[in-house]
Amino acid sequence: MTFAKITQVAHYVPENVVSNDDLSKIMDTNDEWIYSRTGIKNRHISTGENTSDLAAKVAKQLISDSNLSPETIDFIIVATVTPDSLMPSTAARVQAQVGAVNAFAYDLTAACSGFVFALSTAEKLISSGAYQRGLVIGAEVFSKVIDWSDRSTAVLFGDGAAGVLIEAGASQPLIIAEKMQTDGSRGNSLLSSYADIQTPFASVSYESSNLSMEGRAIFDFAVRDVPKNIQATLEKANLSAEEVDYYLLHQANSRILDKMAKKLGVTRQKFLQNMQEYGNTSAASIPILLSESVKNGIFSLDGQTKVVLTGFGGGLTWGTAIINL
Ligand code: ACO
Repeated sequence: MTFAKITQVAHYVPENVVSNDDLSKIMDTNDEWIYSRTGIKNRHISTGENTSDLAAKVAKQLISDSNLSPETIDFIIVATVTPDSLMPSTAARVQAQVGAVNAFAYDLTAACSGFVFALSTAEKLISSGAYQRGLVIGAEVFSKVIDWSDRSTAVLFGDGAAGVLIEAGASQPLIIAEKMQTDGSRGNSLLSSYADIQTPFASVSYESSNLSMEGRAIFDFAVRDVPKNIQATLEKANLSAEEVDYYLLHQANSRILDKMAKKLGVTRQKFLQNMQEYGNTSAASIPILLSESVKNGIFSLDGQTKVVLTGFGGGLTWGTAIINL
């Protein structure tokens, strides 16, 4: 049996920082409202870089920090719901930018669960023995799909990218247990990027191509369904909630994390948090948190740390992977 391992992490966010006070100058909002309801203070907003630009910066960093030649990469998966284009995929653009000429590359669309779904997929590609090495990246330029006249969503999101290098050759499994879920019947509570059908044969217009969200419904979904998913994954792994060292959950809202910690009976300090600096970066939020935690020395990639990664969002999608880092 071949085991996979995360051997490198990297993240990149656009330079331009937009604070809650900055937003209050362009829409009817204020720092107190945003911070008290979400825990968000700042977000990074692209001033021109697209999703593949952010993802390629991460890919280059992963490759150079590992002293690898790009030709040795077997696959690139980019989790995103804000691709530069549907064709070519963001991953194909990254493959070209970094010169990973032997890698196959594709995007994975699962909104804020995208990175966890992609990591689960990549682990299977490696542990099957078919491939040796791949890049798994979450990247979003959410600012381009936001309706900037809708204060209830515009204040929540940010742009960024992060990822991991995953390689064969570990002495223990990367994923101890996992549970990935989707409920398409509730998909309407989070919508984005519709394209109208306007052809000589049909004319169908959709309401809006911008992001729209039923905030309360998503909040309820997050605090009701997601802790059950984490609990079920812990049971599969035969671990108690306290035996996990850190919980790296999708960074949507600090109140969601408070409620999760309470429901699972885990000290809140184990739930790492950085949405105050980045807002909700969708598929990028978990890998940004992972990369920052390693760079800040909270834990290292030495196989000694048990971490829960949990994404939840559009689709609806949600999923947990408990990993050995
Ligand atoms: N500034 C000031 N006031 C605002 C703002 C704003 N930015 N946005 C909304 N309001 C007002 C509303 O108009 C409303 O006013 P009213 O009572 O006069 O009508 C009032 O504030 C309350 O609005 P609610 O939407 O009820 O506020 P709520 O307390 O539910 O908080 C929030 C909204 C923060 C969006 C919350 O519902 C939430 O966090 N939902 C989950 C969102 C989430 O987690 N998304 C991520 C998962 S999906 C993904 O990541 C892609």
